[in-house]
Amino acid sequence: MRVELDGRVALVTGASRGIGLAIARALAQNGARVMLTARKPPVLAEAAAEISGGLADVDGAGEVAVFAAHAGSPEGAEAAVAATVERFGGLDILVNNAATNPYAGPLIDIDLPRLDKTIEVNVRGPLVWTQAAWRARLREHGGTVLNIASIGGLKHGGPLGAYDMTKAALIYQTRHLATELGPGVRVNAIAPGLVQTDFARYLWTGAGPEADYGWALGRIGQPPDVASAALFLVSDAASWITGEVLVVDGGSLLGPRLAPTPPPTAAG
Ligand SMILES: NC(=O)c1ccc[n+]([C@@H]2O[C@H](COP(=O)([O-])OP(=O)(O)OC[C@H]3O[C@@H](n4cnc5c(N)ncnc54)[C@H](OP(=O)(O)O)[C@@H]3O)[C@@H](O)[C@H]2O)c1
Repeated sequence: MRVELDGRVALVTGASRGIGLAIARALAQNGARVMLTARKPPVLAEAAAEISGGLADVDGAGEVAVFAAHAGSPEGAEAAVAATVERFGGLDILVNNAATNPYAGPLIDIDLPRLDKTIEVNVRGPLVWTQAAWRARLREHGGTVLNIASIGGLKHGGPLGAYDMTKAALIYQTRHLATELGPGVRVNAIAPGLVQTDFARYLWTGAGPEADYGWALGRIGQPPDVASAALFLVSDAASWITGEVLVVDGGSLLGPRLAPTPPPTAAG
């Protein structure tokens, strides 16, 4: 799928591996100039080198640069946005992808440090990065924001109550900001299901990429499955879509795949 992003400038948080790396690569392959951010400079540098190496053979490809910043930090957000504008001359697309999940267990038992960290990175982070992008560029020039949420924010139950609560808040933030930032800025979210990255390793370790998980499309997701949806939502192909949450989960939210229903017999 080729999407026209020539000349657009994008900033992606959590872009050094997993889903963020796949989104950054897809944006650059489709002509965008992309600033990759995460905390660890050496891993970021490797990610940028890997993307750049793959762009050499792609017609109309963009380019990438890196800036190290903590996704929960307002100062980091402002500095990353400023570095993006300085390096590429603007900012049109913000992808709030970085998140953390330091706790699994009953929500009622979570300790305050881990609760605060989860909220800081997963809810406050996307808001302060969106504020920084809005104030520096988007308010005046327009653009689009994409938040990476989770199907956990659309259901309840299970051991990730604190994380899922922050993703539900991010979905609220997405819909609410869509009403505040339009018509110049579109704000959407993707709610991925289980994707084979480090983040969710404990949920898939031991199962191969083709293992059947029992949901409609069977297999676990791969980062490019989310990246292609991201590409669509930040492009002009989605120019009348805002405040939307696109579930990308192979059908897992629907529940288990059903056995085919036998046709009715002649006797009824
Ligand atoms: N994988 C899944 O099954 C799944 C399912 C639903 C939703 N999601 C969501 O998808 C997004 C990406 O997850 P992923 O699976 O791709 O994770 P991942 O493979 O662990 O990658 C996380 C990225 O975020 C960066 N990061 C982590 N904490 C950060 C912080 N405090 N500040 C700045 N950067 C930070 C990491 O780099 P550094 O460590 O160097 O900072 C890395 O680049 C997250 O929002 C996650 O909630 C994932």
